[in-house]
Amino acid sequence: MAILQIRKLGDPVLRSRTKEVEKITEKTNELLDNMIDTMYAKDGVGLAAPQVGILQRVAVVNVGENLIELINPEIISESGKSIMEEGCLSVPNELGEVIRAEKIKVKTLNREGKEITFETENFEARAIQHELDHLDGVLFIDKTVKIME
Ligand code: CO
Repeated sequence: MAILQIRKLGDPVLRSRTKEVEKITEKTNELLDNMIDTMYAKDGVGLAAPQVGILQRVAVVNVGENLIELINPEIISESGKSIMEEGCLSVPNELGEVIRAEKIKVKTLNREGKEITFETENFEARAIQHELDHLDGVLFIDKTVKIME
């Protein structure tokens, strides 16, 4: 278990494309564990692997109810729209309002390599969409409709 260093805006790793995890190994699970520790240590509600310098499609989310571990996640359907203020551990001291789907259906692998599908909505759905953007090198500031002063 370790607290990893968070990469900040300007680090090219945040703008790089990630690779699918081809085989889930002990290293993958160790990465998940360290990302979870880091997310909690930094009071984040989500963390994606590029934020700790790893270009793999791995992310974790916990908005206060459930810990969600995502490996090769995909949003397979979405509905509704909502606007809400977001921030990001990689973009300190900045908040902005972002429009995202209100409800999503997610397909992902769990740490045992089993494919699971689940539906979620509201803040948890938003956090997942934010983390999935990180896997494509997209930051919330790219989507902000109004920068909060
Ligand atoms: Co972020």
